[in-house]
Amino acid sequence: MKKIFAICGSTKLASTNQLYITAITDLLGTAYTLINLSSLADIPHFNPDLDTKECPPVVESLRDQIKLADGVIISTPEYAMGLPGSLKNVLDWTVSSASFSQKPVLALVASSQGEKAYQSIIDILTVIEACVSAQLIPFAKAKINADAVIVDTETLAELKSTIQSFVGHMENE
Ligand SMILES: Cc1cc2nc3c(=O)[nH]c(=O)nc-3n(C[C@H](O)[C@H](O)[C@H](O)COP(=O)(O)O)c2cc1C
Repeated sequence: MKKIFAICGSTKLASTNQLYITAITDLLGTAYTLINLSSLADIPHFNPDLDTKECPPVVESLRDQIKLADGVIISTPEYAMGLPGSLKNVLDWTVSSASFSQKPVLALVASSQGEKAYQSIIDILTVIEACVSAQLIPFAKAKINADAVIVDTETLAELKSTIQSFVGHMENE
């Protein structure tokens, strides 16, 4: 059984991005087990002075979960023309540990518009050497229902193809 670590870029309780993570899990099927990062809010602010061998235990655990996963799903909204600060913070903690190096990552930006966050997450994941399969879903809230079923056929078809690319990267690992 392949292990997937999921990071939702939204800390909101009723998050559209969390629904998309659920939808992707359903589409992936039973050969995959998914572990969600419990909360972005538990990760302390990045500080290079703490980025040592004895970094905060919660950061150590985050890095281990990424390293041990066969793949990572990140689904995020855009805030003020960029990535949410709490998600960027998590990604900053993974730079020195190279946790994402060669890691298959499915990156979704599910937002009202989202173009800037989409470009930003691709740039960041590329520089930390992840194998990226990415998709932008504008008007994201209207395209998924409360049961995490994607109701927009074009989005669903595109997502199936993005998932196929992600699975392909995991199989070539
Ligand atoms: C503070 C704030 C800033 C936002 N800025 C943007 C933005 O710049 N671009 C955009 O597409 N959506 C923006 N949004 C809208 C959210 O991205 C959108 O509501 C998204 O669906 C929220 O996802 P979530 O339900 O997973 O939190 C913003 C929302 C908030 C709360």
